[in-house]
Amino acid sequence: MPFNPELCRNESEVESKLIVQYLLPELGYTPDTWHQEVALGSIRLDFLAFAAQVIPLVLDANSPLSVVMEAKHPQQNLNNHVSRLRHYLTKLNIRYGLLTNGKEIRIYEKLDYDVNLVFQCLGKEVEDKIEEIQNLIGRKNIKEIQLIHENLDIEIKRQISMKIIAIYHNKGGVGKTTITVNLAAALRKKGKKVLLIDLDSQANTTFATGLVKFEDEELDDLKDANILHVLQSDDSFPITQISRKSLFSNPEIDVIPSHIDLMRYERELEQMDNKWTLGEKLKEVEQQYDIVIIDTPPAIDLFSQIALLTADYLLIPSDLKPFANQGLLNVNEFTQRINKHRKYIGKQKIEVLGVIPCKISTNARFIQSTLPKRIDLISKRYNFQVMDTVIYEREDLAKCTEQVQVVGNIEIPDPRSVIDFKPNSTSAQEFELLAQEVLQKIGMI
Ligand SMILES: Nc1ncnc2c1ncn2[C@@H]1O[C@H](COP(=O)(O)OP(=O)(O)OP(=O)(O)O)[C@@H](O)[C@H]1O
Ligand SMILES: [Mg+2]
Repeated sequence: MPFNPELCRNESEVESKLIVQYLLPELGYTPDTWHQEVALGSIRLDFLAFAAQVIPLVLDANSPLSVVMEAKHPQQNLNNHVSRLRHYLTKLNIRYGLLTNGKEIRIYEKLDYDVNLVFQCLGKEVEDKIEEIQNLIGRKNIKEIQLIHENLDIEIKRQISMKIIAIYHNKGGVGKTTITVNLAAALRKKGKKVLLIDLDSQANTTFATGLVKFEDEELDDLKDANILHVLQSDDSFPITQISRKSLFSNPEIDVIPSHIDLMRYERELEQMDNKWTLGEKLKEVEQQYDIVIIDTPPAIDLFSQIALLTADYLLIPSDLKPFANQGLLNVNEFTQRINKHRKYIGKQKIEVLGVIPCKISTNARFIQSTLPKRIDLISKRYNFQVMDTVIYEREDLAKCTEQVQVVGNIEIPDPRSVIDFKPNSTSAQEFELLAQEVLQKIGMI
């Protein structure tokens, strides 16, 4: 059956089926030559493909060797998106832009300050017209343009935008780990490349991401490769060596596991005075990840210090109950202390995204009368913003971590994110909303 992009039902299918699976390969762009959701200042491109293999990638003022591809919802009229494409091409000095909603495909060429429509076809004609498209924006063709521009000295590197979020509250059991793993899964499903770091010696994130598969400690395969090793040495044990792929979420997520050993080494690590090591090692992988999420212990200790020194943003889970509220005074004092350290090395203050209400009762009367007052109190008395999203107390959320796989007569832990466990549940929807809100607040949408 011929390929028919007109059957794409939404923007993300136009992106995946038409652009990623069909056009980019047909046009000769290998995965290392194109990038999805490239942020360049205030501009956010759906796809940017290069004629040359360019890693790392920074797009500077002058990049005639590339093509922008913008995907729209099938019901969108492409006429309404031409001026934006014109802005992208002229501002970034990119010669060609492809615009499609699946039903129609257009290619524009940049003139000095305008764009010119140079190709147009229906989505269902794409296979017949592919040669024409290749002649215009195929990688081979664009490479020839590169030869013409050979005396242009163009530096191309990926714009670094990796953001690090610490999930912290000194009060225990308020949902830090639950938020960490499920937010990570929700962000991953939105196409972000996510790294999870467990900085709590209780290793609950390590469990919740399914990395503890052994039943007998003699089979412990985490002991010799966990966050402790990352922190202990400046030169060896880079992130890439310690991180593991976890299938608690689909697509999979990389995780730096923790270990109970971490607790024993706190004093030793304190004396080594390498609180910035984690941050330094994360710089080595900033091409690989969009977002790093760090789970922390319910304490004001070395590990929470490291998390807050390393992170750009802080998200504070809270059940909004009196002890958690009083703990906010500690969070406040602690972040101020951390900010002094950060200033000392010229690092910006940590940005508090806000308190995220978690484990909140679903009782209708509580939601109507008590909850708004509790939320109000956080901003008035404790001076913290509260996120719009609320993560209510839900059975699915507690259960998804407890999934097991039965092999013979043993049960192997097989935890899932709530979105993988029950994609249509209210809890899954809450985490999708949270991911959306976080992305907005950190400037990624
Ligand atoms: N919204 C929720 N609905 C139902 N159960 C929840 C919710 N949030 C957390 N829980 C459950 O509450 C318990 C504590 O949650 P979690 O481990 O996420 O808290 P924590 O702040 O990380 O705790 P600690 O401080 O010990 O690390 C867990 O059993 C978890 O499954
Ligand atoms: Mg925890």
